[in-house]
Amino acid sequence: MRILTVVGARPQFVKAAPVSRALRVEHDEILVHTGQHYDDAMSASFFRDLEIPAPEVNLDVGSGTHGVMTGEMIRRLEPVMLDHAPDGVLVYGDTNTTLAAVVVASKLAYPDGRRPWLAHVEAGLRSFNPRMPEERNRIVADHLAEILLAPTGTAMANLAREGRGDHAELVGDVMVDAHAWAAERSQDRLPAAARGLDRFLLLTMHRAENVDDPARFAAILRGMDMDLPVVFPVHPRTRAVLAAGVGVLPSNVVPIAPVGYLEMVALEARAHAIATDSGGVQKEAYLSGVPCITLRSETEWVETVDAGWNRVVDADPVAVSAALADNIFMSRDRPRPALYGDGRTADRIVAALERHHQRIGAPRTPQQATAS
Ligand code: UD1
Ligand code: UDP
Repeated sequence: MRILTVVGARPQFVKAAPVSRALRVEHDEILVHTGQHYDDAMSASFFRDLEIPAPEVNLDVGSGTHGVMTGEMIRRLEPVMLDHAPDGVLVYGDTNTTLAAVVVASKLAYPDGRRPWLAHVEAGLRSFNPRMPEERNRIVADHLAEILLAPTGTAMANLAREGRGDHAELVGDVMVDAHAWAAERSQDRLPAAARGLDRFLLLTMHRAENVDDPARFAAILRGMDMDLPVVFPVHPRTRAVLAAGVGVLPSNVVPIAPVGYLEMVALEARAHAIATDSGGVQKEAYLSGVPCITLRSETEWVETVDAGWNRVVDADPVAVSAALADNIFMSRDRPRPALYGDGRTADRIVAALERHHQRIGAPRTPQQATAS
C-alpha cells in the first residue's frame, strides 16, 4: 500500500509515530506536515524524540484564523495528494489539519477517475460540547472517512449512534503505544525545573475555551495558587495571552517552555498530580498512574473518570483544592485496567488498513466510492 499521512499539530506527531513505524515495515508512507505547529518545541522536537522520519512535504501554513488556516491547508494539500496519488489517506484526531485533510481527500479524483480511501485514527470521540472547534472537526472527519479507527467502546457507541458503526473498528488508543515506547527512554529526561522537587503539580493548559476567556483563565490560575510548586510548560497560545497581560501566575507556578515528549513523559511519571485541559495528557496521567484534574466542563475520556483517576473540575479553584485534599482520590490505591488497549494499536491499525485495501483494491472509481 501507498499511504499519505497528514499531520500538523503536536498531538498528531505523538499519535503518528508508532503507526508510521509499523506502516513502514511493509508499506510506503508519504508524510505530509501542514505546518500548523512550527516552533521547534511544538514540532521538530517531536520528530527527534519519537524518531519520526522527516516529512516528505511541509506545507508551511503557519498560524491564522480557522478559515485562513484551514483554507490554506486545503489549497496546498490538493496538488500534493494528486501528485503522490496514494492508495489511502490517513488522518489523526480533531485539529484543523484533520479537517483540511478529510475535505481534500474525500473529494479527490485522480485523472482516471479513481480516488483514495480515507482512514481516521481516534474516530468517535465526542465531548457533546458544540462550542469546541475540535468537536466540529471530528464530526466532519467521522462522516467523511470510510475507515473509522476507534480507541474505545464509548467511541464505537458514539459512531453507531450517528449511523457510522458499519465503518468503525475498535483498535485501542495508539497513544498507549507511544507512551510505552517513550517511558522506556525517558528516565533521565526530567526537565531542570522539576529536578530536586520532592513534590510538584504538573499543569498544562491550551484550550481556546480556557485561554481565550479572561474570566475562566483567571479562575484556573487562581486554582493553581497552592502550597506546592506547579511546573507549567506553557503552550504558545497561552504564552501569547500571558504576554498580553491577561491573567497573573501565582508565585508558586514555574512557567517553562513547552517540553519535548520524553521530558513530558518524565514529568508526568513523577508528578504528585496533573492538572490539564489536554486530551492526550489526561490519558497519559492514567497510563502513569497519577491522579488527573481536568480543567474543562466535560471530557471525551470518560473511562478515566469512571475508573476514579480523573476528576472534571471545570475552571473552579475550590474544586481543584478539594480534589488535592481528597485522600481517596489522591491515594493511587485503586485498579488501573487497560482501558485504552494493550499497546499494540499501531499493528491493529495497519492490519485494518490492509484488510480494507484488499477488499476495495487500489484507488476506487467514483461509482465504487458511492456504492460503499
Ligand atoms: C491546536 C488544535 C487543538 C489541539 C492543539 C494541540 C485546532 C482547532 N486546535 O490548538 O485541537 O489540542 O493544537 O496543541 O486545530 N503558535 C505558535 N507556535 C506554534 C504553534 C502555534 O506560536 O508552533 C501560536 C500562534 O499564536 C497560534 C496559537 O499558538 O495562533 C494557536 O495555535 P493553533 O494551531 O491555532 O491552535 P492550538 O491552540 O495550538
Ligand atoms: N506534550 C509535550 N510537551 C508539552 C505539552 C504536551 O510533549 O509541553 C505532549 C503530551 O504529552 C501529549 C501531547 O503533547 O502527548 C498532547 O498535546 P496537546 O495537549 O497539545 O493536545 P491535545 O491532546 O489536547 O489535543
